[in-house]
This record gives sequence, C-alpha cells and structure tokens, in this order.
Amino acid sequence: KLTEPFSLVLFGATGDLAKRKLYPALFSLFKSGLLPQNFAVIGVGRSKRTVEEFRTAVRSSVDQFSRLKVTDENEWNQFARKFFYVIADVNQPGQYQGIKTVVEENEKDWNLQGKGNRLYYLAIAPDLFGSVSRNLRLAGLTETSGWKRLIIEKPIGHDYASAKKLNEQMKESFTEQEIYRIDHYLGKEMVQNINVIRFANSLFEPLWNHHYIETVQITASETVGVEDRANYYDEAGALRDMVQNHILQILMMVCMEPPSRLKTEAIHDEKVKVLRSLRKIEESEAAEYVVRGQYRAGMLDGKLVPGYRDEKNVNPASNTETFVAAKLYVDNLRWAGVPFYIRTGKRMPAKATEIVIQFKEMPKNLYFNKNNDLGPNLLVINIQPVEGMYMVLNAKKPGSINEITPIAMEFCNNCDQGTPEAYESLLHDAVAGDQTFFTHWDEVSLAWKFIDPIRRAWDRGEIPLEFYESGTWGPQAADDLLAKEGHRWWPVSSQRRHQIV
Ligand code: BG6
Repeated sequence: KLTEPFSLVLFGATGDLAKRKLYPALFSLFKSGLLPQNFAVIGVGRSKRTVEEFRTAVRSSVDQFSRLKVTDENEWNQFARKFFYVIADVNQPGQYQGIKTVVEENEKDWNLQGKGNRLYYLAIAPDLFGSVSRNLRLAGLTETSGWKRLIIEKPIGHDYASAKKLNEQMKESFTEQEIYRIDHYLGKEMVQNINVIRFANSLFEPLWNHHYIETVQITASETVGVEDRANYYDEAGALRDMVQNHILQILMMVCMEPPSRLKTEAIHDEKVKVLRSLRKIEESEAAEYVVRGQYRAGMLDGKLVPGYRDEKNVNPASNTETFVAAKLYVDNLRWAGVPFYIRTGKRMPAKATEIVIQFKEMPKNLYFNKNNDLGPNLLVINIQPVEGMYMVLNAKKPGSINEITPIAMEFCNNCDQGTPEAYESLLHDAVAGDQTFFTHWDEVSLAWKFIDPIRRAWDRGEIPLEFYESGTWGPQAADDLLAKEGHRWWPVSSQRRHQIV
C-alpha cells in the first residue's frame, strides 16, 4: 500500500491510453485500497472541458474498461474528487502556470509546502517528450524537495540516434533514476513471473541452459490489424513496434543469469548482459536470420478483413512489415548454440503471447507411439490471454505395453479470478519508486543498436517482403526459417486444446 501523498500530472488526459488503461488502472488501485489518502490526478489537455466533464469522462472509461467496477456511488465520489483538469498547449511554456497552481494548491491542502511528490506522465506523442520536460523545468514544476518522476511510453525514437537525442533532452530536466520508461509487457503478471518460475524452482534452473534446452520460441500474435494507428504504424512496422521492446524484454527475462539480489540494479545488470551477448545481425545477414511479412486480405473469425495496404491511412504501396520472425542467438556460455525463435504479427489466427521452452530429446527412445517418435518435453509459459504454465511430458498410454503418449500438466493463474492489469502494477511501482519493471536507457539503446542494421537492410529494399493471408500464421518463409534447423513452431495454447502438442 502506498502512503505518501502524490500528484499525477497526466499529459494526454483525453487520449486513448488514458481512457483505456490509465483511469481504469487508477480506479482498480484505489478500489483495492492501494492508493494513499491524499493524491491528485491533474489531467492536461488541449480540448476545453470543465472539471465536471472531465470526471464524467473518467467515469465512463472506468465503467467501460476497468477490471474492478464501481459498486457504490460514495466510493466513486471519493475517487472522482481527486481529478482536476487544466487546459494547456504543452508547447507554450507560459501555459504551465495553470498546472502549477493546481499542483501547489493540493500540496498546500496536504500540508506539504515545498515537499510535494510529483509524477509527470507523458501519454502524448514522443516528439513532445523533450519540449514538455523542458517546459516543466522552466515553469518551476521540477523544483520540489519531495520526489519528481517522469513516465514515458514507447516509441522512444525510431532508431538509436533519435532515441539518444530524445533521451538527452529529457536528461536536462530529469535524471536516469527519475525517468520511468514503460514497456507495458513488463507489467504483465506472467512476464514478472518468469524470474520466479526460473529462480524459485529447483526443477527448472539446473536445466535452464544449452545442455538441456534445444530451442526457445517466443510468439506474440494478434488478431487485430493496424486499427486506426496507421499514421504511427506505417512508419514504425512490427520490428520497431514489438521486437525492439516487448519481445527483447521477454528474451532478457528468459535468458538472464540469476541476479545477486532482488534489487532493481542487480536485475537490470543481468538483463543488460543478455543484450550485450545477443549475436549482432549485420545488414548483410538480415535475410538469413529475419523474415518480414505483411498481411493481405483474408478470413478471420468468419469475416473477410482487408489487406494492410487497403487499410485507412496506409500508403497503398507500403512495404511496412506487420509480421516479423527471427532466429536469434545469445552467444554466452549458458546459451551457446541454442536458437531463440521469435515471431510477432497482426491479423494472425489467435491473440497469444507465449514462450515455449523445448527441452532436448532423450538420447535413445525405448518406447513407441503412433509416430514412432518420442516428443520433446515442453514448458510453455502463457503470458496472455491465458496466464499460466503448461508442461508436456511423456507417459505410458493406459492399458498399452510400452506405448507412450504426451500428457499435459496445466496451471492457470487467471482462470478463477482476474489478475491486476499491467498498468495497475506499473503505476503502483512508479509511485513507489521501484524501477525494476521499467526500461533503463542502456536497454533501450542496446535494443535499438540491435534493430537498426536489420532495418537498414530492409530499407535498401533487397530483402523480399513476404505476404501472408490474414488469419494465417505468417508467411511460409517463417516456417522455413525453423525447418532449416530441424525445428517447427508449436501451436499456441488456444489451438491445441484438444491435442496436446
Ligand atoms: C503495443 C503495440 O505496444 O502493444 C501495439 O504498439 C500492440 O501494436 C500492443 O497491439 C499489444 O499489447 P497487448 O498488451 O495487447 O499484447
């Protein structure tokens, strides 16, 4: 439970992220009794609205999207009273005075003159990060003897050079310890569980290396298309949108060495070492390691959906990738020679984020089954929508002699009750001052340095863009990438309900 009073100044208060994620997360934290008695949310936006209108909009977002619902109007009124609204054009330093007045009035009410704790959340276009952090400083909003923190969302730049520039601009007003970069995958229950599964189970940790693991697969598939985000997405593409951040973060969690302590710095040091060990893919090698694809029209959930190039605001000749598959290697002693296959894409048959750890096969098969092969043991970590674990083992087929069959052991984290949303946990940690599940600058910069040569190779136009029909698992080239090494993609959980593997 948080006890210190704080002000959350939210830029982009009328935007989509605030509406879908932030207000619902704040309400769930409030309802769970985790927020302090004194806090204020100061929404900043360009559109004109009264405080009452703002509170009504927050209510409708909570009703629509919150995990925990409003059950009592008193409770709602107590929550709503914490919300304020200031109209400001964030590019105008002069317009920050209105924000300052509201922040200081609340701090005065809480008897905190000069010692207020302030969280500035930039739920706005990244090209504004630099000017907003500068204007906060010019307006004196960063002067407090309490704490001040800046929360930003991806994309942090579009390559290493632009990310570095943005970072330098923010560093003029906030230190690294004060910058909280959100990668919302790090807020997901099962991503946070990866370390626990690894480091709290003697069953897994001794096997967690190239001696026993054949390959690791990370899938992050989505059924949605580009939706109404083409202006951003058509410039970004799946490599920047998903791989540079979410997928590499999952990879770091799977591969890192045990930290010396459960402290932010110790964990972060181990994560960074993974990125340093990641085999660099040179421009000339991109075709060998990475497949890029784009969806065409196709049937999804019984409906015909348009191809990417026909989506609203997408350039009809766009070569932007909506799918990426890659073979990665972490060249250190633990992981030498183990291929890590990653894939992510839009308009695929199922929404699924999963990690499959495929163990090496037994050196000799004493038994038989219908295919006459002993299938490998698998440990599947289901990140979403099902949150849990799934293990595939071999056992005797009941009633047979020496015939084996795969069996499954399954654990579901969110089947009986909902688990906190990523943003609940991240907002909580940001107020608590815990940076463990936020991205540090060196992670961001190394991830960009890894991605940039692949992008450059694609931009030269020499590597073919593969097409896949909506509602399929991506282009054939993604299957070929694994087949070359004698591997295959395992079906995601929702697709193997009735057959174990
Ligand atoms: C975002 C990407 O970071 O993650 C989106 O920009 C993607 O393109 C989204 O749809 C996926 O998040 P989640 O939590 O739904 O898996």
